[in-house]
Amino acid sequence: MVSNAAVALAAVAAPAGMLAGLAAARRRAGGAAITVGVPLPGQAALALIAAVAVLALGWQRAQGAPGLLGSRLGHLVLATVAVLLLTALAAAWLHSRATGRAAQAPWRHAAAMLLGALALLAGLLAAAIAWQPEEALAIAHWPFAWRFDPDLPVGTQTWRRLWLAAGLTGLALALLLAALFARRGRLVWLTAAAGLLACASWPAPQLLMTEATRTSYQRSPLAFTDRNVLQGGRLYQAHCAGCHGAQADGRGPLAAGLPAWPSVLGPALFENRLEGELHWRVAHGGDGRGGASAMPGFGAALGPDEIWQVLDYLRLRAYGVSGGMGMPAIPAPGVAVTCRDGRATTLAGLRGLPLWIGAAAASASAPNAMQEPLDPRLLTVALTWGGGYSADGNSAGADCVASGEDAWNAYALAAGVPPDALAGAQFMVDRRGWLRARRLPGAAPAWTSADNVCGPGGRMENTSAQGLGALLLAMDRAPIGIPDTRRWQ
Ligand code: HEC
Repeated sequence: MVSNAAVALAAVAAPAGMLAGLAAARRRAGGAAITVGVPLPGQAALALIAAVAVLALGWQRAQGAPGLLGSRLGHLVLATVAVLLLTALAAAWLHSRATGRAAQAPWRHAAAMLLGALALLAGLLAAAIAWQPEEALAIAHWPFAWRFDPDLPVGTQTWRRLWLAAGLTGLALALLLAALFARRGRLVWLTAAAGLLACASWPAPQLLMTEATRTSYQRSPLAFTDRNVLQGGRLYQAHCAGCHGAQADGRGPLAAGLPAWPSVLGPALFENRLEGELHWRVAHGGDGRGGASAMPGFGAALGPDEIWQVLDYLRLRAYGVSGGMGMPAIPAPGVAVTCRDGRATTLAGLRGLPLWIGAAAASASAPNAMQEPLDPRLLTVALTWGGGYSADGNSAGADCVASGEDAWNAYALAAGVPPDALAGAQFMVDRRGWLRARRLPGAAPAWTSADNVCGPGGRMENTSAQGLGALLLAMDRAPIGIPDTRRWQ
């Protein structure tokens, strides 16, 4: 993955080169007066190449347009690109005007100062990019009323119209540039550009895009921990269950009396929807299309973080119900653990190693996840609440032990079973902390493709992985690409 430093390096390379070029020109001139021409075409090309490189790297770093347009890091990248483009334009324009005036030292001096200042500004922005923390990738606001939706079917007619409009607009921009550089007939160029812009007929946005809200691309900033999720569960039962039902099946006691049936808040809710838009719906209520609806807004009753907790609860619940089929990836719920060396840490503190999490049984007759020998490449974590194990973990045979009641209950949600039926359930977590596969008590004696492995796109898909070793390989071979921008606990 591209790092901040790589983006910053690309952003600082051009200004550094330009300043070096200006300094060299000055040295060649011998002292204060620049008598040799400033290498303008070279400067323009350098700035242009840098702008393209910064945009490409920034796009990767911010994971696409939403990140570029909505996050602090994205804004810095766009500002840098704008300054670099301006620099390229300024250098090219100065070059086009240089003949005749180039002989005058004050003119060249001013040109060098202008380019130097722009290069310095780009350098400062590059430094700012390099210093941004990971949180600067979090998307704060989506600035538009529409957003691209990969699931929206778009007709060929619409595509053709789009390309035509884009082509005409591109041509108009080229004419505007020409007007900037033209020595004569500027009005003609400008009129032609305006004419082309007027001709470009863009397709209506709803043919290409879905309606968006300010929070569309926001993700929960909260750590996905047992405590946050269970707190979300309590809030859900207090505020939402009356209509949506204690099982989130849309059959609450109040449901029948409502003008519209409350939605089922199960796996389908998370299939093709953005978390940020669900947050908006809960905060603002309504049917999401501006019509009257029985869904009240909770923006006043619940804080933004509390709504994230409710959504995280529903997400984990949905994973439990469906095994994650079709849903975007979820992180393994974070829990407090104590490891063999006596070290107390959290699940997030164990990242970097693939984890096996098993719910230990209290009695010998119950199914026990710890019976089979495990792959030595795995770090094992035993959930032992109610099992009567000592906290040192040795009696459970695992590297680390999570003995809390919250931990047990959170993983019961992830397994989709009541807490007293969790013993024997097993989970696989990859090096980055994503929950990748599970095996429920009573399932076939080996990990199979049927009990879902989460693919690299972050969605659950079947793989042919058979057994733990193959599963481990499959997880490593196809890591999940989406960044986890949540706070670590
Ligand atoms: C007074 C009853 C009521 C309560 C209380 C209620 N809802 Fe709803 N909710 C509805 C109804 C009815 C709809 C369907 C809206 C429509 O399409 O008109 C809905 C829709 C939704 C949707 C949109 C589902 C979709 O597919 O777009 C979400 C998400 C949601 N509710 C979450 C919640 C949460 C979370 C809470 C608790 C904080 C809650 N609701 C409390 C009645 C309620």
